[in-house]
Amino acid sequence: MYYSEIGRIIEAGLERDRDKVVSFAQLLAKKMAADGEEKGSKRIGDILERKSGNKAVTDSLIAPPPVDQESRMHIVEIEYHPSANDLIFSKAVEGKLMDFMETVKNKDKMEQMGLEFNMSLLLYGYPGCGKTSAAKYIAAQLGLPLVVARLDTLISSLLGNTAKNIHKIFEFAKKQPCVLFLDEFDAIGKARDDQHELGELKRVVNSLLQNMDEYCQNGILIAATNHHELLDSAIWRRFQTVIEMPKPELAEIEKMINNLPDFIDITQIKPSQWNKVYDTLLGLSYSDIKNILNNMVKKLVLKDEHTVKFTDILVEAYLFRNHGNYTMEQLVQYMIEHGVSQKQAAIYFNVSTRQIKNCLERSE
Ligand SMILES: Nc1ncnc2c1ncn2[C@@H]1O[C@H](COP(=O)(O)OP(=O)(O)OP(=O)(O)O)[C@@H](O)[C@H]1O
Ligand SMILES: [Mg+2]
Repeated sequence: MYYSEIGRIIEAGLERDRDKVVSFAQLLAKKMAADGEEKGSKRIGDILERKSGNKAVTDSLIAPPPVDQESRMHIVEIEYHPSANDLIFSKAVEGKLMDFMETVKNKDKMEQMGLEFNMSLLLYGYPGCGKTSAAKYIAAQLGLPLVVARLDTLISSLLGNTAKNIHKIFEFAKKQPCVLFLDEFDAIGKARDDQHELGELKRVVNSLLQNMDEYCQNGILIAATNHHELLDSAIWRRFQTVIEMPKPELAEIEKMINNLPDFIDITQIKPSQWNKVYDTLLGLSYSDIKNILNNMVKKLVLKDEHTVKFTDILVEAYLFRNHGNYTMEQLVQYMIEHGVSQKQAAIYFNVSTRQIKNCLERSE
């Protein structure tokens, strides 16, 4: 039942790695307590307290986080209690994420049945489509801290140090139960076109591959990239699960709108107008749409209003896409083209219909 924890504790004992023994014994105690094995969990807790002064259940990792030898800066960030709320995924992505988590949770069972697999996941896709959020979500669901290393900052520092730093990160993650998250993973591929010496870069890539192979036998690894095309097949092959995180489709956009705060009333917008809203939002990332909706809500709250009008959401999407760089004529033109009447536009801008007409004449 607890083979993987016991295995890690034995391994750590043989390696004389005290931190690792303690942290995996803590994990074992925690798991047993969660399964109702109070007695066994308490016994482990007592041993830990007596021998190491550590309580069985702790919120912090024990090993000190790794630092860069030259700069003395930390090379990982640790989120002890990662959280990711209100995430919306397509059915396909959600299914794949669940599969990955289920496999991780049932590693022991799978191994007993002779099934071999490693716990590595590659997430790729456009910026703002939930790669980092999904990593947090998985760690939160598994009840583990998230150890985040950004490869772009590692690689851009002295290459000579990079292989060492990569090794340190994996060693650190091995010492305690956690999810290791390598963000901006394509930095490895990108560095190849830079001024870096090729031989040295090869060493970095090899060191990464070796560390991944070893770590992934027991540790959980997630990597994320916006540029999957920059990864070579040797890297690609190593991931047990690969998930593309696409931009939201209609169903997901609808869910995002339905997730607006309860005090916001969206019932005044007609079905035909919703179709136009979706048209303007399709093609944007989750993060962009969230921004648009947040800005809209903020403005409504400032005006003490709770009812969303078609124009509110349309204009906000326009402002977002044009980064505030537009003329009143262009905006009015856009509204009319999207089915806003001259009267509605006049109400929105708090001007007369005559002024809207003038605006349209000027923009022709
Ligand atoms: N699937 C989603 N559901 C709801 N909100 C999301 C989703 N994906 C992203 N967001 C919102 O967008 C923000 C940015 O997302 P996140 O950092 O996860 O994207 P990313 O894919 O890692 O982007 P990057 O490539 O820039 O690192 C999140 O904080 C969240 O508010
Ligand atoms: Mg990210």
